Amino acid sequence: MTTLIFGATGGVGSALARRLCEAGESLFLTGRDEEALSTLAEETGARSTTCDVLDTGEIEAAVEAANADGDLSGLVFAVGSIDLAPLRKTDRDSFHKVFDLNAASAAEALRLAEKPLKENRGAAVLFSTVAVQQGFMSHALISAAKGAVEGLTRAVAAEWAPKARINAIAPSVLDTGIAQKVLTSEKMREGLAQMHPIQRIGEADDVAAMAQFLLSRDSGWITGHVFPVDGGRKSVRTRG
Ligand SMILES: NC(=O)c1ccc[n+]([C@@H]2O[C@H](COP(=O)([O-])OP(=O)(O)OC[C@H]3O[C@@H](n4cnc5c(N)ncnc54)[C@H](OP(=O)(O)O)[C@@H]3O)[C@@H](O)[C@H]2O)c1
Repeated sequence: MTTLIFGATGGVGSALARRLCEAGESLFLTGRDEEALSTLAEETGARSTTCDVLDTGEIEAAVEAANADGDLSGLVFAVGSIDLAPLRKTDRDSFHKVFDLNAASAAEALRLAEKPLKENRGAAVLFSTVAVQQGFMSHALISAAKGAVEGLTRAVAAEWAPKARINAIAPSVLDTGIAQKVLTSEKMREGLAQMHPIQRIGEADDVAAMAQFLLSRDSGWITGHVFPVDGGRKSVRTRG
């Protein structure tokens, strides 16, 4: 059985690829950066192809290549952005752009992989953010787009049951590429770490571990849920 990862060269995508490789799983990786992708593919023994998820034709080609042996059973959409701006500095186009990358592209990947995932009793994993369930300053764009991802997760879970499963993970801040624009100094890192009951910034592998579980048969009775992996940030207060 093969798992297809979109955004495999990102922090979470590559941590998950390494975990699945260690577990002996067959992998198909996609990313935009050809060099980083081929290095990771070599390291994990995976097949791969470059793919910009804003291009539906490229998503379709990736799904077809991943399912060449008819055994596609896992799909992970680990692509995303952190677009921060107060609402007054946004416009219709900025919402469309963020929605397109985070929500519509995920929906396209699910739509194109639906048949093999159902045939192979598979599972999909999407990514939301802690900023959907808790309001943060300057998060209107990304919260709205990832809120759509959460709705998509539940709707598709209903459409696919009982043949295939889909869940999402809602991380708080992780020490990966897209978060570097907020992790700009040691002071900022420390301040953000202290906002979590488990007082540190998240690691890609914290989230990859949950994704691996949600792909596995051990989670076979779980579908349509959004799981916080957030150091307790959404639900727990340790002070005041
Ligand atoms: N990091 C956080 O603090 C955080 C918090 C909440 C939610 N999340 C979510 O967690 C998921 C994993 O993110 P991460 O933390 O692993 O961030 P990351 O290391 O920056 O990875 C994001 C990936 O998205 C890829 N990507 C962006 N635009 C793309 C496009 N048009 N086509 C194909 N790939 C594209 C990037 O590829 P390139 O390398 O080519 O740019 C990168 O590999 C994302 O859905 C993100 O929104 C992350």
